Amino acid sequence: MGARSCLVVFLASVLIIITLPSSVLGRQYKQLAAIHVTNLMPKGSGPMQIRCKSSYTDYGMHQVGEGDEYQCGVRERAVYYCMATLGRQMASWHAFQPRRDGSGKAVYWMLKDDGIFLSWDNSSWVRKSVWETD
Ligand SMILES: *[C@@H]1O[C@H](CO)[C@@H](O)[C@H](O)[C@H]1NC(C)=O
Repeated sequence: MGARSCLVVFLASVLIIITLPSSVLGRQYKQLAAIHVTNLMPKGSGPMQIRCKSSYTDYGMHQVGEGDEYQCGVRERAVYYCMATLGRQMASWHAFQPRRDGSGKAVYWMLKDDGIFLSWDNSSWVRKSVWETD
């Protein structure tokens, strides 16, 4: 092999090594589904704090006003928890579970006075959790 073809092989190897990990990472961070959380607490209750996380991703605390929606992405096939606090009330629930929700593109949560409700179509709802008071 001449010096020139050696160089070509070397550069090609470097290119493969540089691009491979980023494509693997790119696949890892493709959004698998969206989590929607809507604050439907009674008028006058004020904004709530919502935090959603998995073992790998933590979206941090967000303030969500009355009637407003918070949205975050599911990045890994893992369980995502969300927790919400409003004054002395607090709730936490499994916002995304791969086995339960893995086939859909979105999971909808409605936070109302009488509980935490799940929907896959933003139209029919099932109560999954209730508020706790410390
Ligand atoms: C879900 O439905 C509510 C009420 O119809 C609507 O306001 C909201 O925009 C919908 N959310 C999404 C993400 O489609």
